Amino acid sequence: MLIKKIKELREYLQPYKADNETIGLVPTMGALHAGHLSLIKTAKSMCDRVVVSVFVNPIQFGPNEDYTKYPRTLDEDYKLCTQNGVDAVFSPSPAEMYGEGFILSNNNLTYVCPPFNYTDKLCGKSRVGHFDGVCTVVNKLFNIAQPDFAFFGEKDAQQLIIIKKMVKDLNIPVEIIGCPLIREESGLALSSRNKYLSDDGKREALVLYKILQNIKKCYKQGITDVAALKETAFTFLNNNVELEYLEIYDADTLDELTKANDNSRAFIACKVEDVRLIDNIKLGE
Ligand code: PAF
Repeated sequence: MLIKKIKELREYLQPYKADNETIGLVPTMGALHAGHLSLIKTAKSMCDRVVVSVFVNPIQFGPNEDYTKYPRTLDEDYKLCTQNGVDAVFSPSPAEMYGEGFILSNNNLTYVCPPFNYTDKLCGKSRVGHFDGVCTVVNKLFNIAQPDFAFFGEKDAQQLIIIKKMVKDLNIPVEIIGCPLIREESGLALSSRNKYLSDDGKREALVLYKILQNIKKCYKQGITDVAALKETAFTFLNNNVELEYLEIYDADTLDELTKANDNSRAFIACKVEDVRLIDNIKLGE
């Protein structure tokens, strides 16, 4: 079932809630791939009813980012959802979510702003305001669907950590389930933005995973000094790959570390063919 209005989603879910059925929400921006399907599969295994939201959220994109260009493939997304047993796809318009005449300005909207020490690093450093936009829309989706469980991928590990923090700090009655990152056979982390890459670009993009794998290998061999682990990346980089960041932080709090441990996560962002790609790996697994 495709639902475009907030009121209709609430009306649709109401009888199931009244019957104490559990509701799972998988928030997405569409252009669904195997990574999303694994979230849906986990949601299906845990919940009586599964709702997938498909909404390219304007307020999480910066002025020079790819909001207008972001792939919009609702027909295919809807087909994939129905084939995979999703009960409802919620795909509102920006006006439905933010009001008629909504403009990209924060003068007119109540935002949910996660703490600075979670957002002043990694993706938050170059994408100022991005996580305010993410937390605001996710909070709205939680208020609209009132799910028991919500499913997010570890591919966007900083986002997952920040959403868990928001839910805890704001006492939102939903359980956040983090699901493992899914890779192509080549090792490339699945992302809707991979669609922008040429075949050569996809090959170049493998550098991200190679760097992360090598850091993990070095850690397993006994190197724990974070600076030394980060240094190992430089042999993999070339002119076709523009490194934005490579950091090793605590996997739960994003605290900085001088020595890595089993609960550390290495995070990387690079631009390949002008496409911004991110990846991460837990060192202790
Ligand atoms: O990860 C995403 O696709 C988006 O950031 C999310 C969580 C759906 C919010 O728009």
